[in-house]
Amino acid sequence: MSSTLFRTKKIEQSLRDTEEPERALRKSLSALDLTVFGVGVIIGTGIFVLTGTVARNNAGPAVALAFVLAGVVCALAALCYAEFASSVPVAGSAYTFSYATLGELPAWIIGWDLVLELALGTAVVAVGWSGYVRSLLDNAGWHVPEELAGREGAHGFGFDILAALLVLVLTGILVLGMKLSARLTSLVVAVKVIVVLVVIIAGAFFIKTANYHPFIPKAQPVEAGGDLHAPLIQLMFGWAPSNFGVMGIFTAASVVFFAFIGFDIVATAAEETRNPQRDMPRGILGSLFICTALYVAVSIVVTGMEHYTKLSVDAPLADAFKSTGHPWYAGFISFGAAVGLTTVCMILLLGQSRVFFAMSRDGLLPRFFSQVHPKYKTPHRPTILLGVIIAIVAGFTSLGELAELVNIGTLFAFVVVAISVLILRRTRPDLHRAFRTPWVPVIPVLSVLASLWLMLNLPAETWIRFGAWMLLGFVVYFLYSRTHSRLAQHEGTPPGEVTTPPNCDAQ
Ligand code: ALA
Repeated sequence: MSSTLFRTKKIEQSLRDTEEPERALRKSLSALDLTVFGVGVIIGTGIFVLTGTVARNNAGPAVALAFVLAGVVCALAALCYAEFASSVPVAGSAYTFSYATLGELPAWIIGWDLVLELALGTAVVAVGWSGYVRSLLDNAGWHVPEELAGREGAHGFGFDILAALLVLVLTGILVLGMKLSARLTSLVVAVKVIVVLVVIIAGAFFIKTANYHPFIPKAQPVEAGGDLHAPLIQLMFGWAPSNFGVMGIFTAASVVFFAFIGFDIVATAAEETRNPQRDMPRGILGSLFICTALYVAVSIVVTGMEHYTKLSVDAPLADAFKSTGHPWYAGFISFGAAVGLTTVCMILLLGQSRVFFAMSRDGLLPRFFSQVHPKYKTPHRPTILLGVIIAIVAGFTSLGELAELVNIGTLFAFVVVAISVLILRRTRPDLHRAFRTPWVPVIPVLSVLASLWLMLNLPAETWIRFGAWMLLGFVVYFLYSRTHSRLAQHEGTPPGEVTTPPNCDAQ
């Protein structure tokens, strides 16, 4: 049995699957498209919404350091992702990579985990988008009724109609085709980057250096609120739960990590890239670098404009300008945020439909979902199914803890990818790698440790929720996927073709 759990899909097999005409995606993306795609999904709720919350509750002006830390963790992971993405250019990202290296059960776990990350991430961003749009509508004198403005403000029934509508419209656009969405993405990304640059440049004139004192506020004990809210690391070592101080920076990093989610999704588009061997690493590392620089600059400016204790948690970037008496800047920023969050939502939606598509193509989820649309060549079935589910989740859910759940899922995926790089170097030394992770094994090992460290700084309750989702995944795997897997159905074909365990796979 253990050999079936760890049966691996040969990399050549993955590549062959992408050549079946009715299951193949169109190859149309360049390195620039990928960078735009990356920046399009990376800059979003994290910088527009979470910066204020985290500065106020966890780190003060040192939120800029939290962004640097989270950026370093992502850069380490990106160096591992880039090697994989450039050697296994098929849809599905970490899922596909781990199927080729660690085996079917680990691949299932990671795919299941990625669906959680991307689905909840889409919902989080859609709800954030709806908040900015409502604030713009309010400015224009139109008020969305409380019952249709999401759960937070509502008494009794509450459904976020704008968030749900956004997800449904984007689902339609994705079904119509990748090229259309890439073009739309470029336009929206430009607006978003301009808004971020305006925040940095215009905001710099309103900085008061007094706001930077103290840069790292002294640690403060958390008032009683249930131990499960405390970071797991603090509970493990019996430390009194606290905010601010040095540990506060780590807590902040584990939350603002959400702001970087997305560069890994660039890897899910490898199969749709014209020259993945060359363009993938450029796209991933390029977009990550640009975003880190922008985040650090924005957080330094915003915490300089307004004292961290006064920052708003809903629209911190816009409200910082209001506090300096420049409301029209605030309106412009809210508009840009609303426009910008649209692409984030769309790309998260795209990423998850591709992971689902890849899992279905392998038979781990029903094969019905891996037929591409005859005309548009898009995986329309998983896109529509997931789009509708997320629209409902986004309509009924409030943000809060969801972002942390998304983070733990993503960090877990990073751990698996980094381990996979190490395994694949041993089992497939012969494989052509357009991009090689430098200083192996140092970088992958550091990536595992850094990702685990951020995971440990997430609340204990996030770990419990994540555990429950993964447990459900095991149940589905053992009741359905294990027997329906295409590898299972190929069993009986010559050994070494598709069913060998990882260590024999290479030779
Ligand atoms: N990185 C994306 C955001 O911040 C998911 O919204």
